[in-house]
Parts: sequence; structure tokens; C-alpha cells
Amino acid sequence: MGDLWRSLRRTQVLNIIGLLGVLVFLNTNGVESRKRAQNLEFFEYPAISCRAHSASLEDFGGVGDGTTSNTKAFKAAIDHLSQFASDGGSQLFIPPGKWLTGSFNLTSHFTLYLHKDAVLLASQDESEWPLIKPLPSYGRGRDNAGGRYSSLIFGTNLTDVVITGDNGTIDGQGELWWTKFRAKELNYTRPYLVEILYSENIQISSLTLINSPSWNIHPTYCSNVIVQGVTILAPVTSPNTDGINPDSCTNTRIEDCYIVSGDDCVAVKSGWDEYGIAFGMPTKQLVIRRLTCISPFSAVIALGSEMSGGIEDVRAEDITAIDSESGVRIKTAVGRGGFVKDIYVRGMAMKTMKWVFWMTGNYGDHPDNNYDPKALPVIQNINYRDIVAENVTMAARLEGIPGDTFSEICISNVTVGLTAKPKKLQWNCTNVEGISSAVTPKPCELLPDQGPEKITQCNFPEDSLPIDNIKVRSCYYKYF
Ligand SMILES: *[C@@H]1O[C@H](CO)[C@@H](O)[C@H](O)[C@H]1NC(C)=O
Ligand SMILES: *[C@@H]1O[C@H](CO)[C@@H](O)[C@H](O)[C@H]1NC(C)=O
Ligand SMILES: *[C@@H]1O[C@H](CO)[C@@H](O)[C@H](O)[C@H]1NC(C)=O
Ligand SMILES: *[C@@H]1O[C@H](CO)[C@@H](O)[C@H](O)[C@H]1NC(C)=O
Ligand SMILES: *[C@@H]1O[C@H](CO)[C@@H](O)[C@H](O)[C@H]1NC(C)=O
Ligand SMILES: *[C@@H]1O[C@H](CO)[C@@H](O)[C@H](O)[C@H]1NC(C)=O
Ligand SMILES: *[C@@H]1O[C@H](CO)[C@@H](O)[C@H](O)[C@H]1NC(C)=O
Repeated sequence: MGDLWRSLRRTQVLNIIGLLGVLVFLNTNGVESRKRAQNLEFFEYPAISCRAHSASLEDFGGVGDGTTSNTKAFKAAIDHLSQFASDGGSQLFIPPGKWLTGSFNLTSHFTLYLHKDAVLLASQDESEWPLIKPLPSYGRGRDNAGGRYSSLIFGTNLTDVVITGDNGTIDGQGELWWTKFRAKELNYTRPYLVEILYSENIQISSLTLINSPSWNIHPTYCSNVIVQGVTILAPVTSPNTDGINPDSCTNTRIEDCYIVSGDDCVAVKSGWDEYGIAFGMPTKQLVIRRLTCISPFSAVIALGSEMSGGIEDVRAEDITAIDSESGVRIKTAVGRGGFVKDIYVRGMAMKTMKWVFWMTGNYGDHPDNNYDPKALPVIQNINYRDIVAENVTMAARLEGIPGDTFSEICISNVTVGLTAKPKKLQWNCTNVEGISSAVTPKPCELLPDQGPEKITQCNFPEDSLPIDNIKVRSCYYKYF
């Protein structure tokens, strides 16, 4: 039971009465209605808004046989439903079946609802993926200079969009893309599964995303974003299959997600070098809670490496990591500019980790050679507390930038248990400044221990962010 449902308890009784009302009405309305009532299925789900108009993909010629392309059916359905944006909004139901499709675009005041046995199968035909421009804050595609394939589910300049279901599946069929990417056979940047740009009031919940060609969920230049109860699965060796990448977004909440992937489970971003600096849009007011991550070659939560618009006020809580390379990792470089500041992490349980703490100041990886070597990132006020880790190779590798010290680092109440063959040097710190308290094994001298008589608790804000006050309603879809 996620928080979305929990917050519904108050309104639950009212809604059940509402539902019975509808059923009673149908049953007292003659034989015909009774039959319909028996065939009627209600799908109840929590969402930021309910919709007045509904349709099923089948109404637009959709065929769920796994081989017929539904790209045109999606376009026809969403074009049709977009007319209701100012008339109570609309929802599109995806019934049980395998619905092959290329990229399609969302509309405002719209819900996409996947039945539990519905699978959106991403097309492997490149002509079903329109090319779109690079993001202005990146200046180029992430894989290749120039254009990029539009994501499977794409939206731009929207408001009030819900992508949800009863744990239905979005299958990126990424294998072909990974093979071509590794063989350098792609001229453009690979598509993501879900990308939403310049939008507000977005909910992505109760879904399973598998085998994305690249990143999975990429909200960019958005505000008020909820990602909740999403399972993301990809082979741990698949290239750049990041889980959730909030990018230059304000007020985002990621909770109750389970991610096993080939790259960072959550990667917080805000643009790349001179493009990100010029665009100047930070990611701020981000909450991440109850995340479970397996990422043997990457981070549980990465801050960067593209952070040139800044990352500020991130609160991560109740994080579980298994067999992952590092916990929260700051990735940056000379030329990035921007900042990573006011980062708060409380409550992490980890097992089998290469590094618990990792900060990297020399990540490199520039979009081109025009970056400003004087653009130094500001890394400041980084707080980690209440962490238990077992079977760890090395506690911490904290590498600031010479002449650009990473400052005000606070680490408290941490117990790191070591693997059978740990590194001799457990804390390796360069160009960092801060304090530690109640941490084992003993931290480096650059993070002096405050001593048993002066136990410090690193900060974690007690106020709540506006994204925690967004109201969720109980909505339903009637399927005949
Ligand atoms: C979706 O919208 C974008 C930007 O407006 C456009 O470039 C792209 O072609 C559209 N995709 C589809 C499948 O129509
Ligand atoms: C979307 O919004 C951005 C930022 O306000 C604007 O620059 C862009 O032109 C808009 N795009 C469309 C297709 O309306
Ligand atoms: C959703 O489906 C995935 C994949 O089958 C499964 O691992 C996960 O437990 C399911 N989540 C819920 C809430 O049922
Ligand atoms: C990529 O570009 C090269 C050179 O322009 C061209 O020969 C090749 O067909 C292109 N590949 C794809 C998949 O578009
Ligand atoms: C230390 O962290 C553990 C979790 O690892 C927590 O249960 C405990 O309450 C914390 N102690 C203090 C004094 O905050
Ligand atoms: C401990 O970590 C090592 C890698 O350092 C791994 O091979 C081993 O399986 C882990 N042991 C347990 C009990 O998880
Ligand atoms: C410690 O970190 C510095 C800076 O990254 C590196 O040059 C050095 O080799 C490391 N020392 C050990 C023993 O790993």
C-alpha cells in the first residue's frame, strides 16, 4: 500500500457509496441493464484528477495481438480525446493484450490506464520513432550529437497528465537498441520509455517498465511530479538503463519504487556544461522515499553528472540497496559549473556495496570542447545519517576538486560492516571538508569525529515540501 492509497482513506467510504449508487441504479433499470451491470468491470485507482470522458484503445482500431502496429490507433485515440481537455478531461484504457506501438504523444487533462494484463510493446522499427531536437540544457543528444528518437510515451507543454494502471507493463524491447548502441550503429540518441517536457502536475504510478532502450522515466523542465509504485527492470549489464531521472524539475516525489537496472536507479540531473549553465534550471525540492535498488555497476541515487543548472534541496529517506556499486553518489567535473547543495539523506540499509559514500570531482564526460574550464561546481551542505551497510569493500571515496573544496559534509550514525576482503584504506578523502559523528570505521581526518561527548545528528528538514500536500482522489474506469 503506497502513500497514494493511504492518503485516500478519508474519502474511501464516500467513494464506495458512490460506486454502489451506480450499481443499484443499473440493477433497477430492467433486464438489459442488469446484463450490462454483470459484464461491467470497475477499475478503481488513485490519481491527482479523475476524468469525465473515457475510451478504450479498441475503439480506435487497436489490436492487442503483439504484431499489429498500434501507433496510428494511439494517435487517433489521443487526438480524439484531446478535445475534452477543457471539458472534464479524458482517460484512455488499454485492455489485456500485447499492444505493439511506436512513439506517441500525450495531451493535457489526460489519463493513460493500463490493465494489469496489458503490455505496451515498443516497436523495433526505427521509422516508428520520430526524431526530435536535443534538449536545450544538453546541447546535443546523450549518445550522439544531433537529434534523438522521441520517447515511447512523450509529452511536452502539458498540464495534468496521469500514466497509471493496475501494474500493467511497458516493455521497451531494448535488446535490439543495446546491440546497435554497442556496435555504434545508431546515428541518433536512443529513445527513453517516458519523457515529459515543460509540464506540470504529472503522475506516473503502478506500472512495471522493462527493458528500456535507454533511460526509463525522464521528467524534464517540469513541476509537481509524482512517480509512485513503479517497478523498473532491465539486465544489470544493459547500457544506460537508468531508472528515474528528474531533470531540471521542481517539486518531485519518487516513492515506493523497485528498480533493478544497468545504470543509476535514480539519477538527478539539470543539464550539461555550457548548455546547462546557460539554461540555468535546477532540480530542486525532490523527495525520494522507500526506494529499493539493485545496481551492481552504478549508484542507488546519483546527483549528476549533468548538474550544470544546479541540484538543491533533495531529501532521500528509507532507501534499501542490495548489490550496488555505491549509495548516494555526487558526480561532477571542472566545466560543469552549477551546484549540488542542501542534500539530506536519512535511513539507508545496504548490503554488498563497493562504496557506501562516493563523491567524484573529475567525472569528465563533456558534450564538446567548448566547456569553460573556470566553471567550477559548488558542492555544499551534504548530510548523511542513520545508515547501516554490510559486506562493503570500501566505506568512502570522497574526491573534491583541487581549489574547489566540497564543503559542509556531515556524516552521522553510520555503521559499515566490511566484506571478507576489504580495502586497507577505508576512507580516502581529498579536497573535502566537514564533520562526522558516531561513524565506524573511523572516517578520514578531513571529516573530524565530534567525539562521544558531542554526538551530532546531521540535518534533515522537518518541514514538508509542497509535493507532499498534493491531494489524490479515487477515480475509476468502467469497462463493458
Ligand atoms: C510528438 O510531438 C513532438 C513535438 O511536438 C513532435 O516532434 C513529434 O513528431 C510528435 N510525435 C508523434 C508521434 O506525433
Ligand atoms: C513549450 O514551453 C517552452 C517553455 O515555456 C517554450 O519555449 C516552447 O516554445 C513551448 N513549446 C510548444 C510546442 O509549445
Ligand atoms: C508489479 O509487477 C512486477 C513484475 O511482475 C512485480 O515484481 C511487482 O511485485 C508487481 N507490483 C505490485 C504492486 O503488484
Ligand atoms: C547512419 O549514417 C550513415 C552515414 O550517413 C548511413 O550510411 C547509415 O545508413 C545511417 N544509419 C542509420 C541506422 O540510419
Ligand atoms: C541510528 O540509525 C539507526 C538506523 O540505522 C536508527 O534506528 C537509530 O535510531 C539512529 N540513532 C539515532 C540516535 O538517531
Ligand atoms: C559479499 O560481497 C562479495 C563481493 O565483495 C560477494 O562476492 C559476496 O557474495 C557477498 N556476500 C554475501 C553474503 O552477500
Ligand atoms: C586516494 O584518492 C586519491 C585521489 O583520488 C588517489 O590519487 C589515491 O590513489 C587514493 N589512494 C588509495 C590508497 O586508493
